[in-house]
Amino acid sequence: MRLAVALIPAVFLAACDIGTEERNEVASTRTVQRPHVPVPPGAIARGTAAREAALAPPGPEVTRELLARGEERFRAFCAPCHGASGRGDGTIVSRGFPAPPSYHEERLRSLAPEQIVQVITHGKGRMFPYADRILPEERWAIAHYVKDLQARGTGSPFDQEAARP
Ligand code: HEC
Repeated sequence: MRLAVALIPAVFLAACDIGTEERNEVASTRTVQRPHVPVPPGAIARGTAAREAALAPPGPEVTRELLARGEERFRAFCAPCHGASGRGDGTIVSRGFPAPPSYHEERLRSLAPEQIVQVITHGKGRMFPYADRILPEERWAIAHYVKDLQARGTGSPFDQEAARP
């Protein structure tokens, strides 16, 4: 019995030794250094840097197609609160959600497209962020559509009157 007890540490240590030797032969995942592989030309960047680049101004060129896409996305994601004409009177608001300010207020009229992209990305006050639901390019499309809405006025008869000389 005593012999068996005395043997255990010896066997154990021997096993450890073997392990150490084997580990020296097999490359440890902790110490492997991968060689630097340069980014091949034409590769499309992914991840955080690419996302930030996609959100940096000036964004995509403003075309008819971009505005049409913006309108479609705006109606799906923003109009429920901001209203189709941006007056802050969407259906969700009529059911009790706090009303957003009208896009036709002076302060919001002075927002640059990139600031609207920021609001869509990060949210603002009571408005949730939409970064996980709206792609960067679509955020630009929406932002330019909002600027377009603002340039056209609220579309109310009152505005047309105000615009008359
Ligand atoms: C669920 C309702 C809701 C939806 C949907 C919504 N918003 Fe808003 N939004 C708000 C509210 C409320 C505010 C006012 C936030 C505050 O100041 O607390 C606001 C504010 C804003 C502002 C003004 C920010 C400022 O500087 O004061 C912009 C621009 C805006 N929203 C754009 C958008 C766009 C673009 C979309 C669609 C992608 C959108 N919102 C979707 C509720 C909403």
